[in-house]
Amino acid sequence: MNTKKITNICCIGAGYVGGPTMAVIAQKCPHIKVTVVDLNEQRIADWNNADLDKLPIYEPGLADVVAEARGRNLFFSTDVDKAIDEAEMIFISVNTPTKTYGVGKGMAADLKYIELCARQIARVSKDDKIIVEKSTLPVRTAEALRTILTSTGNGVKFEILSSPEFLAEGTAVQDLMNPDRFLIGGEQTESGEAAVQALVDIYLNWVPRENIVTTRVWSSELSKLTANAFLAQRVSSINAISALCEKTGADVDEIARAIGKDSRIGAKFLKSSVGFGGSCFQKDILNLVYLCQHFNLPEVADYWAQVVKMNDYQKHRFAKNIIDSLFNTVSGKKIAFLGWAFKKDTNDTRETAALYVADELLQDRAEIHVYDPKVTEEQIFADLEYLQTHRVGQYVEQGEIMSMDEIRSLVTVHNDPYEAMASAHATAILTEWDEFKSYDWQKVYNDMLKPAFVFDGRNIVDKKQLSEIGFEVYNIGKGN
Ligand code: UDX
Ligand code: ADP
Repeated sequence: MNTKKITNICCIGAGYVGGPTMAVIAQKCPHIKVTVVDLNEQRIADWNNADLDKLPIYEPGLADVVAEARGRNLFFSTDVDKAIDEAEMIFISVNTPTKTYGVGKGMAADLKYIELCARQIARVSKDDKIIVEKSTLPVRTAEALRTILTSTGNGVKFEILSSPEFLAEGTAVQDLMNPDRFLIGGEQTESGEAAVQALVDIYLNWVPRENIVTTRVWSSELSKLTANAFLAQRVSSINAISALCEKTGADVDEIARAIGKDSRIGAKFLKSSVGFGGSCFQKDILNLVYLCQHFNLPEVADYWAQVVKMNDYQKHRFAKNIIDSLFNTVSGKKIAFLGWAFKKDTNDTRETAALYVADELLQDRAEIHVYDPKVTEEQIFADLEYLQTHRVGQYVEQGEIMSMDEIRSLVTVHNDPYEAMASAHATAILTEWDEFKSYDWQKVYNDMLKPAFVFDGRNIVDKKQLSEIGFEVYNIGKGN
């Protein structure tokens, strides 16, 4: 096997996956030139910003890594053709959103960006290259890539690898520095194995060999979808139990603690909440469901679809509980939202539960006052606007499309949490930001209308303390 030593890498897509992953590779492999390219000029300018606080992505530890490698062997550029031409190995980290049109609408991954990349690589390349899929992709995308890449007839040979990323937002740098595993899928041919080895050699610069798992391409592609499906399933499973807890007087956090002690189950990802969000879980499960349907496995498709249905139900249940508790209507009532991000320590709002809860309350003409320590007003209105034009999902579809004028008349975004909660009928906690725990809840109570309701969608505030102050407190899964 003739393994090539890689000295020049290019990554197409300077987004959430491409940016941090390449920054860490560059930091750990000073002998490799790493160029990250993107069509988005602003994004590249932000990555090149001398002020490290202005990087396009906020991740703890990322600025230090970029500071060390940028200009040494890490470069950000909009010259996609040049970077492709010079690279021996090309990572594809472009976005693969759920399709919003045509065949597979609302379920299948939209591969148009991947396809455009492949065509560009095919057009530009003059020598053999290894292509690595980093984006999460449906199984057998590598096949489609191969078809496009090899159809030019110019004699250039491409090896295609799958090496999906498992980093989570907020811990991306940590996940990259100390991964549970790096996964590489490749062809079981001599040249395929050599390509796998070339990537193994890169990761070996900082990851022990036993943490690098190699598989065939299809297994690697499917492992990523499966990992996210399993994680999301755990959240939906504990959320399903939370509904039963509320009826029976059991406590979902006590149950999580009790079952989490079983080493076969494990303690992580058992935190009941208002529902999971983020760019991956729902998208990947829908993708999995679509694949199962495509391969005529309706029972398997239904099984996984239920994880998303349960998540929709959890968000709906939370919103409905607010309406029911406020005497069956929230019309004209002020509801404060603490948190908008899909989890703490990120400003990412993709698929955030807060948006869906807000939508249900807005359908009933509530006045929503949002405070989030990291999410901008612009982003919150962009999310609300997007939902109006993309009404997909069990409960969202039933809602009426609202005009932006109407939404703006009902939603206010605050920079001060106390202002958001003053004179409110209810406060709903949507994200588990640490700062919410240490608010002066007595002051909040004094300023709210009575009865003062708190709906804790993350079980983070002290129910006993708040009840003693006089609040009506509703938790997830606590037999209220
Ligand atoms: C996830 C996967 O963890 C990561 O491996 C993959 O590469 C991308 O998708 P991410 O979306 O960043 O990462 O966040 P994660 O921490 O997994 O949380 C996802 C959602 O589940 C959040 O909304 C979070 O609040 C929710 N969650 C998580 C719970 O409600 N309860 C839990 O116990 C864990
Ligand atoms: P992810 O979370 O998967 O990293 P992002 O949306 O954060 O997704 O980033 C994907 C990036 O890929 C975007 O910045 C987008 O501009 C870029 N991109 C998409 N298609 C191309 C392309 N053909 N060439 C270069 N960059 C691309």
